[in-house]
Order: sequence, then C-alpha cells, then structure tokens
Amino acid sequence: MPNVVVIGAQWGDEGKGKVVDIYTEHADNVVRYQGGNNAGHTLVVGDEKVVLHLIPSGILHEGKRCIIGNGVVLDPEVFIREITNLKAKGRIKDDSVLCLSEGLHIIMPYHKRIDIAREAKSGDKKIGTTGRGIGPAYEDKIGRRGIRLCDLLDRDIFARKLTEALEEKNFLLEKFLNDKPFTFEEIFNEYNGYAATLRKYVADTSLMLHQEVKAGRNILFEGAQGTLLDVDHGTYPFVTSSSTCAGGACTGTGVSPREINEIIGISKAYVTRVGSGPFPTELLDETGENMRQAGNEFGSTTGRPRRCGWFDAVVLRYAVRVNGLTGVAITKLDVLDGFDTVKICTGYRYKGKVITEIPATLEVFADCEPVYEEMPGWNCAISNVKSFAALPENAQKYVKRLEQLMGCEIVMVSVGPRRDETISLRNPFFA
Ligand code: GDP
Ligand code: IMO
Ligand code: MG
Repeated sequence: MPNVVVIGAQWGDEGKGKVVDIYTEHADNVVRYQGGNNAGHTLVVGDEKVVLHLIPSGILHEGKRCIIGNGVVLDPEVFIREITNLKAKGRIKDDSVLCLSEGLHIIMPYHKRIDIAREAKSGDKKIGTTGRGIGPAYEDKIGRRGIRLCDLLDRDIFARKLTEALEEKNFLLEKFLNDKPFTFEEIFNEYNGYAATLRKYVADTSLMLHQEVKAGRNILFEGAQGTLLDVDHGTYPFVTSSSTCAGGACTGTGVSPREINEIIGISKAYVTRVGSGPFPTELLDETGENMRQAGNEFGSTTGRPRRCGWFDAVVLRYAVRVNGLTGVAITKLDVLDGFDTVKICTGYRYKGKVITEIPATLEVFADCEPVYEEMPGWNCAISNVKSFAALPENAQKYVKRLEQLMGCEIVMVSVGPRRDETISLRNPFFA
C-alpha cells in the first residue's frame, strides 16, 4: 500500500482533517509532522463534530496508529486535554495507538507569552498569529536551545535547560516586551507533571515508521497549515514557522523521500485566509460576506472570521509545483451553490503587465490585481450528489476548468463536511 502525504494547497483550513479522516480507512499509520496546536482540523462523523489541534485526524478510526513526529512543536497541556476530551467521548480505548516522537520540541509557557507580546508590540505589522507560541518555539529549535520531549523526561536535563532558557526569556519579556517574567518553580513543577503523563506515549517514531514500511504497512502523512504559509515557500513573513510543504513530511518524521508515493493537495473551491498578509482575490464586499456565511468560515482554532475570495489558479499551480502534487482534492464546492456566477483568477496584473507566477517580493504581491475568468454558477444544492456525472453541468465545467488551469488531476470533490458527502474520482491508495 502506498505512503500518501496530504497537505494544504492554499493558506490552511482547506479541509485536510476531513480528507485525512476519510483516507485513514486505507492507512496503518497516520502522522502529524509539523506545526502544533495552531492547527484546527475538523472532522464530522455522523452527528458528531470533532476539532483536533494536535492529535492526528486518524484517531476516530479504532486501532489505527497515530503518531506525532519530531517536526511538531507540542504544547503538553493541549495534548493532554485533547486526549481527555476524546476519551470522554469514548475514543482512544487503547493508549498504545498514540505515539510521540522523543525528538519533538516542547512549547513552553514563555513561548506563548512572547508570541502574544510580540504581536501586541508589532501594531499594524502584526502577523495575526494564533498566539499559541508556535514561532518562538521554532525559533528556539532552530537556535539550538529548544527543549525536546526527551529532555523533559529527564529531571536534571530539564532543570538545566529551563534555567538557561529563563535567563534569556525573562530578560526578553521584561526588558523588551514589557511583560511579566516566569519563576523556575512555576514552570518546573507544572511541566514535570506533564512529563509523567506523556511518558507512556513516547517512542522512537522514526524507527517505528521505518519498521512499519519494511513490514509492508503504510503511512498517511497529515499536513497542517498550507503551502502559502510555509516558512520557505509561503508569503513570508506572513507565514507560520514550519515547513508545511511536502518536504516537511520527511524532515518532520525521519522517513526517507524515497518512501513517498503520492502527494495530495487539498484546496477549497475558493480561497480563505486567517491572519494578515496579501491575498489578491480577497472579496471585501457582500459577495465575500456571503461566502463566509455559506462556508461558515470562522477559524476552528481562534474563532476569527476567515478572509474569503475567489479561487486563485496561480496559487494552485504554484502548490502543484513546489509540492509535486500527484492529485488535488477540491473541497467545499457546495459553498458556491448560491452564486449566479463564479470567478477564477488566472493571473495577476502588476504595473500594466500580466504575470502568472507568485512574486517573491511581498510588496509586489500586495499590489497584484487578479485577472478573472467568469463562469455561470449552478444555483442548486449539490451536497446529496454522489457521483461526478450527477453534478450539475456547470459545476462539472467549473471543476474541469480548475483541473485544466492547475495542471493536476482532481482526485476528490467534497460537497459537504460529512464523510458521505464526498465524490472520489481516484483513490491514491489504489493507484
Ligand atoms: P483543515 O484545517 O484543513 O482541516 O480545515 P478546517 O477543519 O479548519 O476547516 C474546514 C471546514 O470546512 C471544517 O469545518 C469542515 O467540517 C468543513 N468542510 C470540509 N469539507 C467540506 C465541504 O466539502 N463542504 C462544506 N460545506 N464544509 C466542508
Ligand atoms: P490548519 O492546519 C489557517 C496562520 C495564522 C497566522 C499565521 C502564523 O487548521 O490549516 P502561527 O500561530 O502559526 O505563528 O500563525 O499562520 N495559521 C493558520 N491559518 N489554518 C491553520 O492551520 C493555521 N495555522 C496558522 O492565522 O496568519
Ligand atoms: Mg483548520
């Protein structure tokens, strides 16, 4: 069975959780490999709605192994709360299905306070982060002073690393950010308590995954955020601090690129973005508001209204290229049901010229005007439709046009949040 990577092809919230939940049926292991609890992945099973921030979206399938890889930054409090909530709903009957990499980095209380204080200090230049301490935690990782799970589990190493960290963090908090410092004791005691709870989940997950592959069992990699939020390939600096693109699946798990067989990009039939940064097709008018209401576009992590706009084929072509997508799943096609016409951005007009690639300079990207193609809408409800051929002709034409402009095969069309509101065109697990 192939190993499949699922990634966001836009600015996050594309519906990765729903697709991973559906694909888990064909997977033995589901792995989160980057990001942290800035993610909010929504799964709808029957009448139940579950939002997961850290635990892989495979967890609703009994017996599937769910792994959090070394590339993730983990807030222990959030992780433990998520387990408790799932158990209260009768999920996770066996703790051994859940594994944490001993190499993942821990989000500390000072990371969260620094994240929030920095944003407050940045005024109108703020990134609009989720305030979960993601950026500061990755800064410490790359700066080689982070605290990993294996460090947390050793009392002495943890005490030494925390002492060293607090010297610097308290200076930053007090002297630069005008905020409160932390005492050693308050963090040490709380985090030692977390260590005791986390210990049973810890494993050498890279070795575990290697052995799984050798034994013929497969891996489903669950991306968080999206291509345009990648720290290298996204709309820097309005990005998150991890590698959200397909390459992150390997660095964030210790699985070789040679083991990846399929890379599926998830894209809405339109675009949303939370937080600041350029967004050429953004609709600041009534049409955008209608999209927000029809798609219930409010963040699953912070509750913020999501910015909405028309489908951007330039962004998708880019996502196809930098991730090497082998297929695209189009989600939320039903949200466009009520529109008389639908628009697709095919290029940008900048200083009188039309460009068809995303410019590297943020200021240029911010000044790009979308060039649109307009198509007739379908004006009827499609959530009950079970096959592509049964979709209204105009909806079929819209999807086919997206496929043509992206230059990548569409393997799934999602027409509602539920599992059975999904049209599968090609299953990457049976390629
Ligand atoms: P993720 O972060 O990529 O997993 O996406 P989110 O869960 O943050 O946001 C996607 C939202 O759209 C969730 O509330 C899903 O339940 C919902 N959703 C997913 N697919 C569809 C779809 O095809 N139609 C509709 N109407 N909602 C969908
Ligand atoms: P999922 O996995 C959408 C955005 C934030 C902000 C920027 C940086 O649910 O798709 P951070 O807290 O990561 O430092 O914030 O990234 N962002 C997301 N937007 N979906 C997400 O995750 C996001 N995770 C972070 O809004 O603009
Ligand atoms: Mg989300």
